[in-house]
Amino acid sequence: MSTLVSAQYSEKGGVGKTSITTGMAATAAEDGARVIVVDADPRASATEELGVVVGPQTLTLNDLLYVPEDADPVDPAEAIGDVLLPAGEHWPGTVRVIAAERQLAHRETDPHAIEGRLARGLAALDGEADLVLIDLPPRAGGKLVTTGLTAATHVVIPTMLTTDGYSGVAHARRSLRLIRQGANPGLTYAGIVRSIVPRESDRRAVHDQIDTDLAEDFPGEVVAVQITEYAIREDARYTSFPITRAPGREAKILADQYRALLDHLRSTGGIRV
Ligand SMILES: Nc1ncnc2c1ncn2[C@@H]1O[C@H](COP(=O)(O)OP(=O)(O)O)[C@@H](O)[C@H]1O
Ligand SMILES: [Mg+2]
Repeated sequence: MSTLVSAQYSEKGGVGKTSITTGMAATAAEDGARVIVVDADPRASATEELGVVVGPQTLTLNDLLYVPEDADPVDPAEAIGDVLLPAGEHWPGTVRVIAAERQLAHRETDPHAIEGRLARGLAALDGEADLVLIDLPPRAGGKLVTTGLTAATHVVIPTMLTTDGYSGVAHARRSLRLIRQGANPGLTYAGIVRSIVPRESDRRAVHDQIDTDLAEDFPGEVVAVQITEYAIREDARYTSFPITRAPGREAKILADQYRALLDHLRSTGGIRV
């Protein structure tokens, strides 16, 4: 069985990409999978939530992608092992991380053809992981997004029920089309995931309206599983704890939702765009 490599992508920030990435990592690992999380966002929120501390000597995704000006490039198929770090102490031992750091932002304008390097590195790991999750920055295309989407087998587009979320979906679908017409024709589009969805008591007419717009404008693309807004999510980020090990009923509901989303990814035949 080949490894599922899922990228979480929207051109908007704050829509739940990173939380979905770490949430699926937590449930998959708890269920026995060997997981690798690739943090392709220079803001490094996934890296932090996974409890990885990046010091001056720590090797990150930046080192895998970087090509020195005056020396031969290192083959990412050989370098990939060096950039795999164990997740922090609260996480299951089967979770490993390719971390982000601020310097990674420079790869966005890197003059070299680096976009295939992550794909090549991950391919060399064949059999070492059951699931790879790529957390992308909120950007319209660009080298880091292209790097992630070139390495992925699947992509999901998280959105909030907001105007911003909606426009992030529309733009992400366009980038997705471009990638499928070029670097990664086999990329499976797994649909739109409604995330940070307000509970009934906080729900307003505008949320229903955007929900309806999504269903009408992108028919067949909205995934049945949605991720509810619960404050415990923020605790997970703050304490670098997997949601599966956070206390309380709301953490349990969230973990079940992330697990259901992963099941959807594993079973989807993909959507045409
Ligand atoms: N289901 C949720 N319930 C409550 N807060 C959430 C939920 N999902 C994400 N958040 C919070 O919303 C903020 C943005 O989420 P994040 O996953 O970082 O989005 P993105 O990666 O798209 O920028 C974070 O502070 C995060 O903890
Ligand atoms: Mg993020």
